[in-house]
Amino acid sequence: MPIELLDDGRFHLFTNSTSYVLEPTAYGAVRHLYWGARLNPGTLVQALTESIPHSIGTPDEANVAFHALTLECPFYGSTDYREPMFAVQLANGTTAMDLHYSGYRIIHGKVPLLGLPSLRAEPDDDTETLQINLDDRRSGLRITLQYSVLGNYDVMTRSVLWNNSGSEDIRLTRALSAVLDFDESNFRIMHLSGAWARERGQSWHDLSTPGRLVMESRRGTSSHQEQPALFVVRPDTTLHHGDAYVFHLVYSGSFLGFAQVDEYRRLRIGLGIHPTGFEWGLAPGDSFQSPEVVLRYSPHGLHGISQGLHRVYRERLIQPAWRDRVRPIAINTWEASYFHVDAKSVLELGRQAADLGIELVVIDDGWFARRDNDRSSLGDWVVNPAKFPHGLEPIMDGLKSWGLQVGLWIEPEMVSPDSELYRMHRDWCLYAPGREAPLGRHQLLLDLGQKPVQDWIIETVTDLVARYRLDYLKWDWNRPMAEGGSAGTSAGRQGEVGHRYVLGLYRILETLTRQFPDLLVEGCAGGGGRFDPGMLAFTPQIWPSDNTDAVDRLAIQGNTAWLYPPSSISAHVSAVPNHQTGREVPLTYRNRVAASGVLGYELDLTQLSQAEKELTRQHVQWYKSHRDLILAGEYVPLIVDDASDQAAWMFWNANEGRGIIYWFCRDNKPNQLSQRLVISDLPIHATYEITDQDSGEHFMAHGSELRYRGIPLLRFFGQYKSRVWTIAATSPHGRGLHTMGS
Ligand code: DGJ
Repeated sequence: MPIELLDDGRFHLFTNSTSYVLEPTAYGAVRHLYWGARLNPGTLVQALTESIPHSIGTPDEANVAFHALTLECPFYGSTDYREPMFAVQLANGTTAMDLHYSGYRIIHGKVPLLGLPSLRAEPDDDTETLQINLDDRRSGLRITLQYSVLGNYDVMTRSVLWNNSGSEDIRLTRALSAVLDFDESNFRIMHLSGAWARERGQSWHDLSTPGRLVMESRRGTSSHQEQPALFVVRPDTTLHHGDAYVFHLVYSGSFLGFAQVDEYRRLRIGLGIHPTGFEWGLAPGDSFQSPEVVLRYSPHGLHGISQGLHRVYRERLIQPAWRDRVRPIAINTWEASYFHVDAKSVLELGRQAADLGIELVVIDDGWFARRDNDRSSLGDWVVNPAKFPHGLEPIMDGLKSWGLQVGLWIEPEMVSPDSELYRMHRDWCLYAPGREAPLGRHQLLLDLGQKPVQDWIIETVTDLVARYRLDYLKWDWNRPMAEGGSAGTSAGRQGEVGHRYVLGLYRILETLTRQFPDLLVEGCAGGGGRFDPGMLAFTPQIWPSDNTDAVDRLAIQGNTAWLYPPSSISAHVSAVPNHQTGREVPLTYRNRVAASGVLGYELDLTQLSQAEKELTRQHVQWYKSHRDLILAGEYVPLIVDDASDQAAWMFWNANEGRGIIYWFCRDNKPNQLSQRLVISDLPIHATYEITDQDSGEHFMAHGSELRYRGIPLLRFFGQYKSRVWTIAATSPHGRGLHTMGS
């Protein structure tokens, strides 16, 4: 069992490769003692209590210098002066607390979080949850720190529950999900930051001086600008070697993540709901639950991190119905017709798609009410009679009769001021009473914290799905939150609006996905503005960016895959010149980039030449016969570096010892030394047959040669050149993966 209580009151949380040691103390501090490579329990007795400044000495109840300690649950109003995990204001306006450890519980499995998505445990899993209770006797506030260890996945989670068991109101003014102190800072931080159409670039930081690094979203969504994740690695950690840690927040609203180096050069990491603008009232008896943070350590570098997250997200976060389900190849109307989509264009596109082997037609924005541009009609989810004079039913029936699945775009959390919905229910919008709400893309947000609004969205979407027998729904969200208030919320609860919005969204998605387990909902937010684990729990695939340029997509998709499995990353082949960058990239290259995730198309197929159609048909066929590997295999990054002139990855079926290797030249430079593609992580005690998918040429190579020397690339280099090889072990020794199980 992965949680043990040691003789001296410390808890050892462990998996095959990790140990995490913490100690609740009588004086209210929960000390963080260790997180890293697995320790033998025999060594835990003495090794872990040394990291206290000489000037302070051992703390006890009479000498409590919290700032001297490495902590799990630091709070404002104690003698810890670093960034706190939480803060409260009591009924008399003060912020001080005297926390006392009041007991623990170890539970088999996981405890569901109130109103929030989280990793699941199944009955036979090697999963346990530790709950540690801390009480402030005077106010009656109880804090329950919750740690789950998912032994089969080498992953841990943390969350916190605050409960007011006293008789007076308490206000939570900060409620992060986890704070953790390392007793050194010999690390680098990586986070994924960007902007619209260039989401998730790698940002690297040294931690050589005291201070604070903040990454955050204050936009009411997880955002294009930052991903709610922090990677902590050693200075010499590489793609496949060295210590790597990740903290990933399962949440879709504003968040704060920080890395703080203190005066002793220790590192504090914190992650949770953004405290700016946040407050939560706890009346007597009330509770507040923080979102879950997923934690993983790997001695196998960044790939060790992604490998474990992919497995646990696929198997214990994504809805079970979609876990292993084939994702249909879509044709989406957006870049083909934009707002001018109509019956004729959809049917022509559908007919062509069916002929090429494409499986799903998605009617994107523009199909409803008076939606000819982005200035009107959000909220009026009735078909546009000018574009679809006989309604959508005959269109959907026609597409289905050609063997196609059907899907629709919707942006149900929004309303245009120029809409019937707005005229009827202005009070359903987010706005501060007496002020104009700021527009974004000419639209307003609905106040999802209000139950009637949630129920209306559930009814509207239910009706659309049932009426048009939808197989798929694209759930979009095209502007950040900036309203600073809700007319439907009392004065004392305005600080709750942002989080209540997210809870409302989760309730809607939970209800709909329970009602329609076979419906594939694709998440989207103006591209990748809400690509987070909270959404992934309901939307098994997510549109990562409005940038469909194949060269830019190498970094966007490659970096998204540090956290998320390729089966969740939607990728479409679009027209050239590309609509976002003007780049002209060959169709083969565009096909292959899109075939590195959930393949789809987003261009006017009827405009392709005969040769392009033939290439597309062949590629769709090829993808269908290899997508089991791409979507369910192990993803192995080979070159994923924003500064590199190349990108490469492998999809690997460890049980069968076969895979696919993709290589892309991103930016050809003249007169360079010839290079090789090293196939990291391949089991070395086998010979492999490697087949070039362009020429059909094949060759044999030993695992050691591939892993330590690589495939020579000299003949393949060139601007926008790409290569795909299949690889198959010729003996059972080639099964598995070097880093498997860690
Ligand atoms: C933003 C999405 O990312 C696009 O794919 C498209 O659906 C537009 N919205 C439609 O308005």
